[in-house]
Amino acid sequence: MIEQINQIRVEAHSQIFSALDPDALDRLRVHYMGKKGVLTTLLHQLKELTPEKRKEMGAVLNEVKTNVERDLKQRQTELKRVVLDKEISSSGSADVSLPGHFAELEFYHLEALNTTEDHPARDMQDTFYINPPVLLRSHTSPVQIRTMKDKKPPIQIIAPGKVYRSDYDLTHTPMFHQIEGLMVDENLSLADLKGVLNYLIKNLFGTKTLRFRPSFFPFTEPSAEVDMQCIQCKGKGCRLCKSTGWLEIGGCGMVHPNVFKSVNYDSEKYSGFAFGMGIERIAMLKYGIDDLRSFFENDIRMLEQF
Ligand code: PHE
Repeated sequence: MIEQINQIRVEAHSQIFSALDPDALDRLRVHYMGKKGVLTTLLHQLKELTPEKRKEMGAVLNEVKTNVERDLKQRQTELKRVVLDKEISSSGSADVSLPGHFAELEFYHLEALNTTEDHPARDMQDTFYINPPVLLRSHTSPVQIRTMKDKKPPIQIIAPGKVYRSDYDLTHTPMFHQIEGLMVDENLSLADLKGVLNYLIKNLFGTKTLRFRPSFFPFTEPSAEVDMQCIQCKGKGCRLCKSTGWLEIGGCGMVHPNVFKSVNYDSEKYSGFAFGMGIERIAMLKYGIDDLRSFFENDIRMLEQF
């Protein structure tokens, strides 16, 4: 049996990564993992073995099964990417004067960020889908996944970019910019996160009017929202801060172990923190602008001030 398992281990890996389209990949999934698949059949045969043998083979078989599952998932992501690239290059006569949109794949945006199919957070951010699984990203956090898939720790990145959400009021526009920060290393703690953000705010605004509010993001645990004292009323409460005295500038937290799992990092060894901030929101505070929408209205009197 062990020889058979080892052969499957080698074959499955090379076949999965040679699959050229989603249908071929699905046939492989059925071949290995289906109800009558080779791995499933072997698992059934375990009961014919002696208890010790069963334990030993069971462990090996489960390991192979986990690897096959992981390979299938990874190849699926790669193939989606191929389809997307093809779509992009086949629209060869692109009108470059049109505004560019940042298309992202659902995988990086949701699955890999621990936001499972049935997760309430999928409703939390109203996402614009272009053509599933292609969407307009609603935050820059998928950059975390792209970075960690590519590199080994230690990691320190700052990644600015366009994001899209279905929002429109004094402090929200449907397109805005975020800046994502990610640090992964051994022995990082919440204190390091707070230290970095305090340093940032101190350098931007000269003061330390920062507070952490416990919050929730699927990809961090614990999570917090970062607030700055309202620039307009200095904390007394006004229309801009909706009478709270505080303005939210971003979210942050310690990287969730499931996120590390999705990029094959050892969460026993490494820890990390991440934050995401609205760039216009920071500019608004810095320059005392009371309506975020004015950044995008292209009123020359507004723009000339900078
Ligand atoms: N991506 C989150 C948002 O846009 C912010 C965030 C980034 C939270 C990194 C935690 C860690 O709302």
